[in-house]
Amino acid sequence: TKITFVQPDGVRVETEAQNGATVMETAIMNGVPGIIGECGGACTCATCHVYVDDSWTETVGGPSMMEEDMLDFAFDVKEASRLSCQIKVRDELEGLVVHVPGRQG
Ligand code: FES
Repeated sequence: TKITFVQPDGVRVETEAQNGATVMETAIMNGVPGIIGECGGACTCATCHVYVDDSWTETVGGPSMMEEDMLDFAFDVKEASRLSCQIKVRDELEGLVVHVPGRQG
C-alpha cells in the first residue's frame, strides 16, 4: 500500500507500507524525518502526529476518544490531526497522503 509523507518544506517521501502495520511504523521503517513514535505506538506520546490530507479525511476517519485526549499534547493540532500510530494500513488507504508537522511535542 503506497503512502506518501509530505515534509513541512514540501518534500515528498513515498513509501510502500505493509498492511496491518501502522502509518507510524511505516514512517519509522522508511526513515521519514519528523515522525518519532516515542511510545512505540501505545497512544501515549503524541510524537507521531500527522495531518491527514484533506482528500483522505473520510477514508481514514477520525480519532478515537483516547487518541483525541492524547492529541491535546501534540503541537499545532488542526482539524486533520491524527496520531499516525493509530492509523492501520489497509488496502483502502492505497495512495494515502499525510503531512508531517513542523515539529513534534
Ligand atoms: Fe506514541 Fe503514536 S507513537 S502516540
